[in-house]
Amino acid sequence: MNLTQPAPSLDALAAIPFTHEKVLITTGARSGLMITVAVHSTRLGQALGGARVWQYATWTDAVADALRLSAAMTLKNAAAGLNLGGGKSVVYLPLGTVLSDDEKRDAMLDLGDAVESVNGAYMTAEDVGTSAELMAIVAERTAHVCGLPTATGGVGEPADATAAGVYASILATLEALFGSREVTGRHLVISGLGQVGGRLARALAAAGATLTVTDINPDKRELADELGADWVPVAGAHRIQADLFVPCGLGGVLDATVIGELNVLGVCGAANNQLAEVAGAAELDARGILWAPDFVVNAGGVVFLAMASEPDADAAAIATRVAAIGDVLGQIFTDAHTEGITTLAAAERLAAARLDAAA
Ligand SMILES: NC(=O)c1ccc[n+]([C@@H]2O[C@H](COP(=O)([O-])OP(=O)(O)OC[C@H]3O[C@@H](n4cnc5c(N)ncnc54)[C@H](O)[C@@H]3O)[C@@H](O)[C@H]2O)c1
Repeated sequence: MNLTQPAPSLDALAAIPFTHEKVLITTGARSGLMITVAVHSTRLGQALGGARVWQYATWTDAVADALRLSAAMTLKNAAAGLNLGGGKSVVYLPLGTVLSDDEKRDAMLDLGDAVESVNGAYMTAEDVGTSAELMAIVAERTAHVCGLPTATGGVGEPADATAAGVYASILATLEALFGSREVTGRHLVISGLGQVGGRLARALAAAGATLTVTDINPDKRELADELGADWVPVAGAHRIQADLFVPCGLGGVLDATVIGELNVLGVCGAANNQLAEVAGAAELDARGILWAPDFVVNAGGVVFLAMASEPDADAAAIATRVAAIGDVLGQIFTDAHTEGITTLAAAERLAAARLDAAA
């Protein structure tokens, strides 16, 4: 027994409504790591959502993340019009844990066993801290995994499609704010230059946007220099005066303090679960900041994984469907505006209508 872990705080868990069909919390036989597989809903089909390998202060924080992220996947897959439910898996790394390649392999084999043990209710894929290559290891233990490397006949990583969906969403947000999708001369602040944020930064720079960027990883400054973007420290990035704030790091970035200090007209980014509290949607609205609901904006990855895994997959059809995320978002903005509700409420209603129709 490890008595060195911090005392678990139940606060994060207690704040989450438990609406899940099934949650498995298990210890990996090889890695000794705690793994959570959260199946939120299979009403529309098999639950699909990535596997996150991340450091948390307590094991309950890891479970809370799995619960929140899996519920968001139900909304995401429903709003994207996919016949898929919502799920997520999390491998909990206590703070300071760095896995060697062998330990990573053990963790992925254990994840495969955990996924297999929910009998097809859940399909995993890559997420923060995992990759197509790691999913190939998961596939040694279960068939319920997608996004495998193209070299082994898989469909590859979904980040290109996610970035394309976020780009389409940024255009829709600009149109709602300025009546024009023109990117040239617009100033955007991107926080997080990883797989999605990095691709987005390149695309926006190529389209003539003025970029201010940041990341907790100082190595990312190289990309900022390459693109001619301004690099700022993470802590003050949200205070920069600009047209849009584009969160592409981890979730929970929009807390009451950040919302109060934002100096932009809109927020549209890839990060999952951006709102630290649900009340943030109304706070953003009250400040006149247009928030593009994350689970609509970042659905390009799941659209890609679902469509590319079909036997008759067609790249052009996938690209069209991903670009249509911008149209869905535009409708959500219109609904929210005409009915005087938050963009979150309008997006949740869209997802709920699909879920209700399948009930
Ligand atoms: N990859 C996908 O296809 C996909 C799909 C849907 C949603 N998302 C979400 O988009 C976000 C980014 O995903 P990704 O695949 O690019 O992940 P990634 O791990 O490749 O990149 C995340 C980047 O954000 C940085 N970061 C972490 N915390 C930060 C902070 N507090 N402030 C600034 N930067 C920070 C990291 O250093 C890293 O460079 C995540 O929230 C993820 O869940 C990704």
